Amino acid sequence: MKIIFKSAATITGIRDVYVQGGKIVAPFKEADRIVDASGKFLMPGAIDSHVHFRTPGATYKEDFTSGSIAAVMGGVTTVLDMPNTNPATISVAALQEKRDLIRGTSYVNYGFFFGVTRENFEEMAKVTNVPGYKIYMGSSTGDLLLDDENSWEKAFRIAKAKNLPVVVHAENESKIKAGQRDCECAVIATSKAVEIRKNVGNKLHIAHLSCGEELGILRKNADKNLSCEVCPHHLYFSELDVKDAYLKMNPPLRPEENLRELWEGVRDGAVNIIATDHAPHSLEEKMQDISMAPAGVPGVEFVLPLLLNELTQNMLTPERLVQLVCEEPARIFGIKNKGKLEIGYDADLVLVDMDIEKTVTRDMVLSKCGWSPYEGYKLRGWPVMTVVGGEIVCENGQLLSEKLGKECVFG
Ligand code: DOR
Ligand code: ZN
Repeated sequence: MKIIFKSAATITGIRDVYVQGGKIVAPFKEADRIVDASGKFLMPGAIDSHVHFRTPGATYKEDFTSGSIAAVMGGVTTVLDMPNTNPATISVAALQEKRDLIRGTSYVNYGFFFGVTRENFEEMAKVTNVPGYKIYMGSSTGDLLLDDENSWEKAFRIAKAKNLPVVVHAENESKIKAGQRDCECAVIATSKAVEIRKNVGNKLHIAHLSCGEELGILRKNADKNLSCEVCPHHLYFSELDVKDAYLKMNPPLRPEENLRELWEGVRDGAVNIIATDHAPHSLEEKMQDISMAPAGVPGVEFVLPLLLNELTQNMLTPERLVQLVCEEPARIFGIKNKGKLEIGYDADLVLVDMDIEKTVTRDMVLSKCGWSPYEGYKLRGWPVMTVVGGEIVCENGQLLSEKLGKECVFG
C-alpha cells in the first residue's frame, strides 16, 4: 500500500511521510491513501521490549493474537516476548516450536528472548536471531532460575561472544526465599550483575528496575552497553496502593520515594526504556487471596496513552518519549530498521490525536485477561491509526488488516 501522511507533526518538525512496500520512502506522487495528519503527532510505532504473551502453555490468560490486538490498538507495533512460557524457550528446538506456532498469528512484529539455565549453555551458543538472553537471577512466574555467580559469569561470556545483551531479572534468591522482596533484594542482584559485567564486558540490560538505589548504581557505571528499563506500574503505583492481588507483581511495588527517583531517571535519560512487563493473569486468578494469586500486571495496551498523557503534563517531551519506547529498544536489542521515522526504515507507525481524552474502563480492555491496573485513569492523547509493515492495521479503534506481524531481524 502507498500511503502519504500529509503535514504530520513529528519530532523533527512538520512534514509529509511517504510509505511504500512496507518502508518509509522518498516522496512519490500517486498514493492509495492520503492521510491528513495535520494537527496530529506521527511517531514510530512503540516497541514493548518486555511482554509475556503466554503462547505456548497458558493461552487462557493471553495468546499471541489477543496480546497483539491489545498491542496494536494501543500503538505498539513490536513486542519482545519472554521465555517463561510452557515449555520454556530454553532450547533451539523450543524456540523453533514457538516460532512455528506464532507465525501468522500476530498483528504486530515480534522477537523471542532465550532463557538461560544451568543446563543449556550449549544451546545458548547455538541460537540465532534473538534480541538477547534472559536470566532470572531470582525466581518469579515459571521455574526459570539461574542463581549462582559462576553460571552468571559463564552466561555473560557466551553473550559477549555472540554480541547479544543479557537481560536480568535482578532479585536476590536468598532474600526472596526469606520473604524479603524489598529494595535491598533488587539492589544486591543489580550490583552483582553490574560487577560481573565490568569484568566480562558484555551488554547488560536490567529489566523492570524499580528502586532509586539501583538507578544510582547504573548512573555510577554509565556505559552505552549498560541499560535499564522501568515499567509503568512502578511509575504510577507505590506499595501503599496494594489492597489486593491485582497489584501483586515481581519485583513488587516500592515505597513512595522511589517513584520520584524513577521519574527523574525517565526524564533525564538514566532510564533507557519504558517496557511494560505485560504479565496477564485471569480475573479469577487475581481475585484469589494475595498469598495465592500469581504475580504480574498487564500493560501493553495502555503504556503509550499513559506516556502521551505525560506530554500534556510537561513530564516528558516528544523527543524523550520516542527515545524511551522506539529508539532505545531498537538500539539496545539490535532490532534492524525500526524505531525511527527515516527513509529506509520499516513503516511501523502510530498516528496520535492529542485532543482525544478518554477514561480507561474495563470494557475497553482487549487483552484476554480482561482487566487493567489503569482502570479509571483519564488520559489525553490516543493513537488513531497504527501502521505495521506499511499496512494500516487499525484506524479509530477498528482492526482493519490481517495478522501481518513478522519476526524481527536482530543483529
Ligand atoms: O510479576 C511478574 N510476572 N514478574 C515476572 O518476572 C514474571 C511475570 C509473569 O510471567 O507473570
Ligand atoms: Zn517479565
